[in-house]
Amino acid sequence: MKNSSVYDCHVLPLTKIHNLSGNTTIVEGKRNVPFDLRRIYYLYDIPGGESRGGHAHKELQQLIVAASGSFEVLLDDGENKKIVRLDRPNFGLLIIPGIWRELIEFSSGAICIVMASHKYNESDYMRNYKTFIDFKKS
Ligand code: TYD
Repeated sequence: MKNSSVYDCHVLPLTKIHNLSGNTTIVEGKRNVPFDLRRIYYLYDIPGGESRGGHAHKELQQLIVAASGSFEVLLDDGENKKIVRLDRPNFGLLIIPGIWRELIEFSSGAICIVMASHKYNESDYMRNYKTFIDFKKS
């Protein structure tokens, strides 16, 4: 994860079942995402102008989906940066370990679903940007 790159964080198309009475999208671990799903959480009621994230993970992999509304994800591997806009429930952004991320520009009523490869573990977080950069460059 020291060498992980923003160019390995891809937007993955998810299964979408079309129906006149509404669509369904399915995410299965190891099938639609390259990891087992051990935790799901979601961000909502985000006040205008707020940002979330601002950290990197050592081991955790995540798939991030805009279940409703839209937002942008800033990805940073210490060398390259990339901005991904998410605004469709049937596409998910895969974030691999060792990538700094910030979620910004949430639309009103946006819901961000995060599917994660591991249970919550604070020691997996790098929350200091300088520490993250020092680690990536070491
Ligand atoms: P954090 O990951 O810091 O927020 P962000 O969505 O901006 O990246 O999480 C916010 C708070 O919630 C923090 O106090 C840790 C706590 N938390 C849990 O207890 N369990 C979890 O699974 C997650 C994701 C967060």
